[in-house]
Amino acid sequence: MKLLLVAGARPNFMKIASIVTALDAHNLSAKKRIDYLLVHTGQHYDEKMSQTFFRELDLPRPAVDLEVGSGTHATQTAEIMKRFEPVLVKERPDAVLLVGDVNSTIACALVASKIAYPGGPDVSDRTRPLIVHVEAGLRSRDRSMPEEINRILTDALSDLLFVTEESAVHNLRSEGIARNRIHLVGNTMVDTLLRHRDRAEQSAVLKRLGLAALNSGNQTTLPYGVVTLHRPGNVDDPAAFRNILDALLSIGKTLPLVFPVHPRTVSRIKEFGLADRCPMLTPHETIPDTNAGLYCIEPLGYLDFLRLMSKARIVLTDSGGIQEETTMLGIPCVTLRNNTERPVTVSEGTNVLAGTSKVAIVRQAIRQLKQRAQRARPRFWDGKTGQRIVKILSKSTLATSKS
Ligand code: UD1
Repeated sequence: MKLLLVAGARPNFMKIASIVTALDAHNLSAKKRIDYLLVHTGQHYDEKMSQTFFRELDLPRPAVDLEVGSGTHATQTAEIMKRFEPVLVKERPDAVLLVGDVNSTIACALVASKIAYPGGPDVSDRTRPLIVHVEAGLRSRDRSMPEEINRILTDALSDLLFVTEESAVHNLRSEGIARNRIHLVGNTMVDTLLRHRDRAEQSAVLKRLGLAALNSGNQTTLPYGVVTLHRPGNVDDPAAFRNILDALLSIGKTLPLVFPVHPRTVSRIKEFGLADRCPMLTPHETIPDTNAGLYCIEPLGYLDFLRLMSKARIVLTDSGGIQEETTMLGIPCVTLRNNTERPVTVSEGTNVLAGTSKVAIVRQAIRQLKQRAQRARPRFWDGKTGQRIVKILSKSTLATSKS
């Protein structure tokens, strides 16, 4: 069996890493190998948004890099499609595996769904690869989010749908997707977190930021919070962004907040003239002794960010994956959105939805800071999701007839 794995943007790399590990383990002993090729679309391309993750997660070098770069949604999606089609025609994989909800995911699903590999002389012999979606079925019910469109369309085109939580099974069933195509297998991002937790403990990030102190020979961590923010709904509108910044600056009066800033957000900070409200620490600067405030830093690698999150008193974020990671780590999370496509992080985990008003964010942060860290483990979030996926894949029917 030949499998083509697609990754394009930062959160894809953690998900693909779990599957690569499981495939390598399978191929060591299985009678039937699953050969795989990794395609990087190049949606994310900066060292700190891409290459760092390949190194830290021991991902193989991509066999193909489509190098699409940034653009409007239409340009980026179309460019990925144009460049992915010849790769499919050349490689003729039996299956294409897609993760998450980024533009790379939907672009490659569309191409794979319409491709027709020539077979025998009969036109009806034409086949296409099986389309496999990992992290299917999540729904925010907010179609102003580009990711929600990507999720709905990718799921509609997929043959095998692997889901992280029960709510996703219900969502897919209510959209008419047959039960036998849906598999509740757990969370590949959690596989990667569990696998790298010990390595992350070696990270020097806390020391580098001046957040670790030596107390009678023992290392202690000063209290701090972590912020991430990059959703277009939060950062592309100056009024909305200012409002969130006001809330963060208010929380930052009593608890230093470390904010690794996404490139999209860096651009908006410059564009909206907000640089004086969120100054960047240079790579060698530590958080000053008078340590309350909001401290922006460059995006961190996987291990540093995992370490930073795991010792934080609180995480304030609009990311999807971080809601799941904080649930696993038992760190209180405040989501700066009105909805979440990952409700299990609220019902079983450490997450609360604060929306985006200043008052609500500050109120929820104060409430969450009173919570004791408590780990939760939703069903199948046990580090074995990649193995479950590979087991099901190894038994599945391969290419799908076009007729
Ligand atoms: C994308 C995903 C989002 C995911 C996020 C994680 C879509 C629709 N959105 O959003 O779901 O949560 O990735 O980061 O696919 N840029 C760089 N260097 C890079 C990549 C991007 O400077 O390596 C800048 C460019 O100015 C670009 C902007 O960031 O225009 C946004 O990048 P883009 O890939 O369009 O979307 P993200 O906001 O990263």
